Amino acid sequence: MKLYLDTANVKEIQEGAKLGLIDGVTTNPSLVAKEGRSFKEMLLEICKMVDGPISAEVVAIESEAMVKEGRDLAKVHKNIVVKVPLIPEGLRATKQLAAEGIRVNVTLCFSPTQALLAAKAGAWCVSPFIGRLDDVSSDGMALIRQIVSIYKNYDFKTQVLVASVRHPQHVVEAALAGGHICTMPYAVFQQLVKHPLTDLGLKKFLADWEAMNKK
Ligand code: E4P
Repeated sequence: MKLYLDTANVKEIQEGAKLGLIDGVTTNPSLVAKEGRSFKEMLLEICKMVDGPISAEVVAIESEAMVKEGRDLAKVHKNIVVKVPLIPEGLRATKQLAAEGIRVNVTLCFSPTQALLAAKAGAWCVSPFIGRLDDVSSDGMALIRQIVSIYKNYDFKTQVLVASVRHPQHVVEAALAGGHICTMPYAVFQQLVKHPLTDLGLKKFLADWEAMNKK
């Protein structure tokens, strides 16, 4: 499973990328707005830090304007994946952008029927938001399992990008469900490596080693 960071904060991306295990980055208009700086400049900076797909979202809601915005974003860097919302106009834009060879991440997916339509429109990936479903007492991970099965049944090439991830257990379940990509906040990525028994075990190994050398 590919691991992406879900942030527009370049400091977090720089830190996260140090391990060499980050495969891509997703941003959205809310994350970009939090940074309060030029979108294109920020995208270029991110593209220099991570050599992988970087999702950048359009803010138009009419298909022709989305296509225009998508073309502009795709010109920023070869690694840009254009993010388009899962609404009828977004599906039309996806079909057009895909026909032009531009990779599209169809975002704000909350149902299997939406995911089926995204795949038929030629999306490079679809982003089901599992945390937001869990927030309203729905089973976000069940949606991932449904989409993975549907795509397998018909051999769709669209990848399932598990989004709106809130904790490491979401990452575990996304991997078990066969999600292709999992995008997460930097804080969740940092938690993936941590285990108190690893820290305790290492402390004991080093203490025993030091004690032996003192003898
Ligand atoms: C995905 O690409 C979105 O940016 C993101 O995962 C949304 O997560 P949130 O529900 O925590 O805002």
